[in-house]
Amino acid sequence: MDGVTPAHLRCNYLVNPIGIDEAPQFSWVDESSARGARQSAYQIRVASSLEKLKSGQADLWDSGRVGSSESTQIPYRGQLANGMRGFWTVTVWDDGDTESTSKPASFEIGMLMNSTWQAKWMSLPDSYGTKATERPSPMFRYEFETKKGVEYARVHATAKGLYRLFIDGKPVGKDLLAPGWTDYNKRIQYQTNDVTALLAKPGKHAVGMVLGDGWYCGHVGWTPGNNYGSKPEALAQIDIHYKGNFVQSVASGPGWKATTGPILSDDLLMGETYDARKERSGWTMPAYNDSDWAAPELKPIGEAQLVGQYSPTVEQLAVLKTQSVTEPKPNTYVFDLGQNMVGWARIHVHGAAGSTVQVRYAEMLNPDGTIYTANLRGAKATDTYTCKGSGEETYEPTFTFHGFRYVELTGTQGKPGAGDVEGIVVGSANPQTLKFECSNPMLNKLQHNIVWGQRGNYVDIPTDCPQRDERLGWMGDAQIFSRTACYNCDVAAFLTKWTQDVVDAQSDAGGFSDVSPRVGDPADGAPAWGDAGVIVPWSVYLAYGDKDLLEARYPAMRKWLNYIDAPNSDHIWVKNSNNNFGDWLNVGDDTPREVLATAFFAHDADLMSKIAAVLGKDQDAANYASLFEAIKAAFNSHFVDADGKIKGDTQTDYVMALNFGLLPEEMRANAIKRLSDHIEIDRKDHLSTGFIGSGLLNPTLTDCGRTDLAYKLLETRSYPSWLYSIDQGATTIWERWDGWTKEKGFQDPGMNSFNHYSFGAVGQWMYSTIGGIGLDPEKPGFKHIVIHPRPGGDLKWAKTSYDSIRGLIETNWKLSGKQLEFDLTIPANTTATVYVPAKNEDSVNLDGEMASSVDGVRFTGMKDGAAVYEVVSGKYHFKSTVQ
Ligand code: BGC
Repeated sequence: MDGVTPAHLRCNYLVNPIGIDEAPQFSWVDESSARGARQSAYQIRVASSLEKLKSGQADLWDSGRVGSSESTQIPYRGQLANGMRGFWTVTVWDDGDTESTSKPASFEIGMLMNSTWQAKWMSLPDSYGTKATERPSPMFRYEFETKKGVEYARVHATAKGLYRLFIDGKPVGKDLLAPGWTDYNKRIQYQTNDVTALLAKPGKHAVGMVLGDGWYCGHVGWTPGNNYGSKPEALAQIDIHYKGNFVQSVASGPGWKATTGPILSDDLLMGETYDARKERSGWTMPAYNDSDWAAPELKPIGEAQLVGQYSPTVEQLAVLKTQSVTEPKPNTYVFDLGQNMVGWARIHVHGAAGSTVQVRYAEMLNPDGTIYTANLRGAKATDTYTCKGSGEETYEPTFTFHGFRYVELTGTQGKPGAGDVEGIVVGSANPQTLKFECSNPMLNKLQHNIVWGQRGNYVDIPTDCPQRDERLGWMGDAQIFSRTACYNCDVAAFLTKWTQDVVDAQSDAGGFSDVSPRVGDPADGAPAWGDAGVIVPWSVYLAYGDKDLLEARYPAMRKWLNYIDAPNSDHIWVKNSNNNFGDWLNVGDDTPREVLATAFFAHDADLMSKIAAVLGKDQDAANYASLFEAIKAAFNSHFVDADGKIKGDTQTDYVMALNFGLLPEEMRANAIKRLSDHIEIDRKDHLSTGFIGSGLLNPTLTDCGRTDLAYKLLETRSYPSWLYSIDQGATTIWERWDGWTKEKGFQDPGMNSFNHYSFGAVGQWMYSTIGGIGLDPEKPGFKHIVIHPRPGGDLKWAKTSYDSIRGLIETNWKLSGKQLEFDLTIPANTTATVYVPAKNEDSVNLDGEMASSVDGVRFTGMKDGAAVYEVVSGKYHFKSTVQ
């Protein structure tokens, strides 16, 4: 055996993070090419410098040798101090006691507490205007001097609003739309960037910051703006560490200068107006003349907790090229980027000084080829650029984002070319973890659309849509999509951050909200929306095994359960059901609100009993289990008749009842039959579910032995179905199954987003059923993997890989007639239950041998048309004959 090598070291899910304020937790991936390679022990060593680490002095923490196969979320137990740097390695031993030590990794603590900041909040004096419309973006600057001997330098910065920071003319960091969205009254993220290279040279330097309104005081949803304040504020501190432990801090405050510049107005929904003639050349360089700048207004650090960025920041993720340019009206040019995307356009234009180019954005075109903007509602989504008249000018906005495929330019000098508009794709930089390809190109396109739906809507928080005057953290959408999201990308850090937003949005009465952060409608959360406060942490736990997240969110979840339970003594959730949206956007098959609500109440109680058990809270686990039983009993007596018909008789009724385990055993067969009849007979092989039912539909059919029907629904191309919108040209998941159709054109513009991920929740089923990569709730975080591909429908082959928190899992199956070939990779230090589709055990061959005679492979029986094996890690090549 050639041992296991620890690789891909991470702290709090991030690679070498700097500026974290949460207690560090370590993870790594054990790699090995040997079958059955396992970690039997680990030792983490943390030192205050790389030199010390290398010379074996773990002066911050040494875990000692721990006999454990754990490799994720190991808590650091050393001291913590603001700005502290830790350099760490992990040594692992395999079963044969072969030792292997990782390459070093690092982490760095941020400011840790508000009191460690020396900086003050700065804003533009009111004399510059008070209304957003008359107040251009503020700019702040300061000059300072560094001496010789800089060892390293960091800048910590944030804004109430949005900011971009520059040092000596260079933008710092890749972060866009920073500091992201939180409830700024309670918690404000700040970003830490490494600026050593910029400040290493002794001498004069300058720092500049420009601010946008963003979520803080711009428009969000359909609110009039100013949700948290009326003008943006900036906060920054540069800490320059010299050899010999001296730290020079340059903090926002007295001595800084303020003014306005080229960004005349900016708003996430409305767009940005930029006048290049007002640029202040050299303003972030030393020796700039700022004598006509004002002193900013200053405020103390305040009460809202400043927290280091938890998750990957929003960044530029890709640049799309224009596919074609048309001129549907004289001098109006429409650029097609070929993909519904989120971000903005970078334009290259020529124009006389003072001439203005207008950039408008749209997801679709009108029949005459002009852009369709009716569905943007109140979002103007327009950027305006006034030229300075200097030959080719390049512009992209800083403080807005749009959801679009088409870009319209007017006001250009002459006819622009395709190269004059690029699509800058922007979103949270969550690492992509999933690859999927199968023999049906339409399903590949669907998966592409699901991924783009997530990319465009995971912009610091999970949103419903990126284009109209909404873009809110809708909780129902987030929970239904969360399992799919965890496959597509590593969203552990992203959802850890957002579940904190969810807690911050909880009302004193215990109500989670409909949207987190909570803005606009003050009502508490609806059934299946508020429940995201329980469901999303559970999804994160399943995918990444993060118990600490459950522990941290548990008190809020308890309050939520109590909020539902206390007023509804008969266990039917009617009181405190708030907006009670029901099965949103179902297809003429509306589930009665109290049925849906009560089903989710039961599901919450069931999850809570599981969560309490995971956390070792046995009494709570027992209490929630009996609450679950009581709700179930009430559900059956109120809503289920003697023949097993559920009130409303909708597809979602049966899906919820079966999926959440609400029916007595003897009633299940009836419910499965009724669900199938509803689909096959009443709806002629179509679904009628809305947001809530659709995510659960295929997994439920598979659990109930009707994978064949799940495939039928997935592969059908007629309305309503997942593939229908693709035939209408969709490049993302749409809010409605028929957002636009060749026959009828557009749906109601009042609510018609072409980038809304909820219906994309079928991804989870595709990855776990077609790809066959599933998890075991008893050993979450893919410690034990359930591999259960179910070839079906018209599929001939499928290739899926998932980069789990414990390493790469791959499946690749191919059917030729009745012959199946199946390649599988199980990462080191994990085990798997593998279902090999086969007519009997004798027909299964592994690497040229009878499968069960291979070392590390144990046959446990035939189930669901598959031979089932317990296997150790490694690569496998199975061949079998299927039924
Ligand atoms: C949003 C949804 C959301 C819903 C609540 C809509 O306007 O776009 O995605 O879940 O409202 O019913």
